[in-house]
Amino acid sequence: MTSDTSRFAFARSNFPKGFRFGAATAAYQIEGSSFGGAGPCHWDTFAQTPGNTAGAEDGSVACDHYHRWEEDLDLVRDAGLDAYRFSMSWARVLPEGRGQPNREGLDYYDRLVDGILERGLEPWATLYHWDMPAALSDLGGWRNRDVADWFAEYTQIIMGRVGDRLKGTATLNEPWCVAWLSHFLGHHAPGLRDIRAAARAMHHVLLAHGRSMEVMRAMGLENLGIVLNFEHARPADESDGAALAAARYDGIYNRWFIEALLHRRYPEIVLEGLAPHLPAGWEDDMDLIGRPLDWLGVNYYTCNRVAPDPDQPWPALTSVPGPLPKTDMDWEIAPDGLAFFLKRLSALSDGNLPIYVTENGMADSAPEDDQTRIAYLDSHFAAARAAIDDGVDLRGYFVWSLLDNYEWAFGYDKRFGIVHVDFDTQKRTPKASWHALRAALREPAPAE
Ligand code: FCB
Repeated sequence: MTSDTSRFAFARSNFPKGFRFGAATAAYQIEGSSFGGAGPCHWDTFAQTPGNTAGAEDGSVACDHYHRWEEDLDLVRDAGLDAYRFSMSWARVLPEGRGQPNREGLDYYDRLVDGILERGLEPWATLYHWDMPAALSDLGGWRNRDVADWFAEYTQIIMGRVGDRLKGTATLNEPWCVAWLSHFLGHHAPGLRDIRAAARAMHHVLLAHGRSMEVMRAMGLENLGIVLNFEHARPADESDGAALAAARYDGIYNRWFIEALLHRRYPEIVLEGLAPHLPAGWEDDMDLIGRPLDWLGVNYYTCNRVAPDPDQPWPALTSVPGPLPKTDMDWEIAPDGLAFFLKRLSALSDGNLPIYVTENGMADSAPEDDQTRIAYLDSHFAAARAAIDDGVDLRGYFVWSLLDNYEWAFGYDKRFGIVHVDFDTQKRTPKASWHALRAALREPAPAE
């Protein structure tokens, strides 16, 4: 574990003082949704429809983190990390999505937050990481405008219990996945392929963010933000058609949410296709959506090669394979895309918005000797460091993920953890990347 290839090129001292290093997880991917009186969420039901998830796998047991959270938090602390990003399950807090809270669920998050603090770690919470209660899915979920009020009610209840001890809170994780991937591309729950549903979800997810922020501000809570994902859109070739397709892709994926949040507008290039399907009066919601954020979370993994698909209706585009080395997800490894977004986002906010990389990492099948992951993370740490040198107000970096876990539609095969999990025995084994991180965070910078 101590050979040079097992080490990161960076050390803590290469980053500004106070820079936070952390690891991230999400409730549905690790806790075990069948434990502790949680209600079903739409991932539990989505997985029961043949063909939706690999091997029809679901998160009912996952990493059994619900019972093993103390051991898992020890692993975060022992890696030398400063912060832990986790999410809370709406259906664990409110099994019916609203109404009667589940006392066991609230107690659980209370203990978890205390456990994080007791280990000297900062708790960074996400209120929604994709586990919509099934009872609300029955009512239309993200398609129904009422979702904003349901989410506000949930925010009030869970933050009333743990909000006083959180270091930072994000309303939602990756609205693009919540809306587009799940309602237009159909890859994630609820698995719809419907532009009208997608347009509504694209707007309601932001409205829900706005209502949730409003509730938390009224509670006097601080350091509130949102986590967005970004994928570098690269035209598949030099043609004008590819340039337009990439610009549309970029609009839907990378501009829609942040421009609404920072500038209270949706990009024209996306309105061209979505405007007819948006809910009436959407313009009136933009002021609430665009209230100030305290920080922005950036999830970054890869780039995408975009080509036109003129036989299809808007957005008339498709993705083609690119030439770069790929992870087990078949995602190209493109760290320059991270630097691109950090600079773009900094410019878009006039440098006035602290940024955190809230997820970055790779799927790698190596059970313990995950040298490829070390190299992947190193190249992205370097991109982050370069962005700081260019003036980006980047405050921290969370590795995805602490544990191998339930990778949504891909089931348990895609391993993103810096800690290996044996899903038969639930045994945790730190990988080479965990050890390397620990060394980098404890030791001075290596000599040039
Ligand atoms: C992100 C998700 C996270 C995980 C990683 C690989 O889009 O936020 O839950 O699935 O991708």
